[in-house]
Amino acid sequence: QDDRISRIASSIRIIPNFPKPGIMFQDITTMLLDPKAFKDTIDLFVERYKGKDISVVAGVEARGFIFGPPIALAIGAKFVPMRKPGKLPGAVISEEYSLEYGTDKMEMHVGAVEAGERAIIIDDLIATGGTLSAALKLLERVGVQVVESACLIELPELKGRERLGDNPLFVLIKSA
Ligand code: PRP
Ligand code: MG
Repeated sequence: QDDRISRIASSIRIIPNFPKPGIMFQDITTMLLDPKAFKDTIDLFVERYKGKDISVVAGVEARGFIFGPPIALAIGAKFVPMRKPGKLPGAVISEEYSLEYGTDKMEMHVGAVEAGERAIIIDDLIATGGTLSAALKLLERVGVQVVESACLIELPELKGRERLGDNPLFVLIKSA
């Protein structure tokens, strides 16, 4: 395994019982304070996706906005924000998804992408997979081919990967 990954893993801080009891919060902000770990993270994704004819990097608000843009710039793709509802000013398409309690919505600007484009979706973490599967549905609804979804961290116990069906998921770190 790439030894950059262990440095990245140790730069992520785990805070127990945030935002509520029983949750072990994976805090990537401490990794952002270590320029080498942050650069290695971006490089690992860039090495994987460069030259793969990807024209869209879709980033999921909020933490996908940290990692998506530098990857997009490095591979020469556009960055498309997938936003929380009511934030995008133009015409949007939206997709509801379930949270632990209730539902939320994700929105994307109409016209940001064209049918036939090849995309990757970037977020910091996959837990239940609800967030990534909503992003996947939005892009597929407009005819975009999602090549892969990519995260820094997967919580395999929550089986989010299964929720993505046949669509591939790439992660740097699997965490308990
Ligand atoms: C967190 C995380 C992922 C999502 C994963 O985002 O950044 O986007 O949860 O959960 P899931 O796989 O069960 O859908 P959150 O909505 O807490 O907010 P933020 O990124 O805006 O901080
Ligand atoms: Mg998030």
